[in-house]
Amino acid sequence: MNKSLRKAIIAGNWKMNKTRPEAKELLDAIKPLVANAEGNVEVIACVPYTNLETAVAATAGTNVKIGAENVHFEKSGAFTGEISADMLTEIGVEYVVIGHSERRQYFGETDETVNKRTKAALAAGLKPIVCVGELLWERECNITEEVIARQIKLDLYDVSADDVKNVVIAYEPVWAIGTGKTATADQAEEVCAFIRATLAKIYDVATADAVTIQYGGSMHAGNAAELLSKSNVDGGLIGGASLKAADFNTIVQAAVNG
Ligand code: 13P
Repeated sequence: MNKSLRKAIIAGNWKMNKTRPEAKELLDAIKPLVANAEGNVEVIACVPYTNLETAVAATAGTNVKIGAENVHFEKSGAFTGEISADMLTEIGVEYVVIGHSERRQYFGETDETVNKRTKAALAAGLKPIVCVGELLWERECNITEEVIARQIKLDLYDVSADDVKNVVIAYEPVWAIGTGKTATADQAEEVCAFIRATLAKIYDVATADAVTIQYGGSMHAGNAAELLSKSNVDGGLIGGASLKAADFNTIVQAAVNG
């Protein structure tokens, strides 16, 4: 597998953190640190809806791109509390996290809605970061590959080979999120390689080789370099460590040097 066939992407997922002034402060700290990644590693901050406009303004003219943390699949209508893809692109948002395990666990997100949201995002020109990952007991029952294959097939149902090149897949084992328990680099590589093989079966090898696959789950300044050294781990989706400029930058620099 040739990593140079695809873009390395380090994305922060801020989750439900930061007010607008705090968001601006964090982005102002991150910007100069990661400027050297331009053209080499894509750097993204996925922020709460209320911070999007502030974040887009704060990063204008820099190499830091902004993402949302979810998007609804309808264009408009009676969907109280939801935000459409057009609302995001109009602000200048480029990426969107879809199907995060916290959405699946706490908000009833299903593979069907993840698929609908992914297609709506792509149709509007947003780049989806589609999250997949197994629960601890699914890993213990030795069905990780079945779980991941099912998610990939359902989440990307009816997404064309051309469109899937604009999709980022984030492999986030649920047991590793916010727990401090990181998958070992070998475990991350094994599943990311399996995801790529699944993509090759659905599409073809060239298409699979072009898709960026991230690892997420307790990635931090101390373990990023090893995880990112693996041939199928093209980047990271980072929660806690993305809220500290220096830690996030260490991860970006690991990707730049990897
Ligand atoms: P942590 O890095 O805090 O474990 O979160 C990972 C995550 O869920 C990123 O989307």
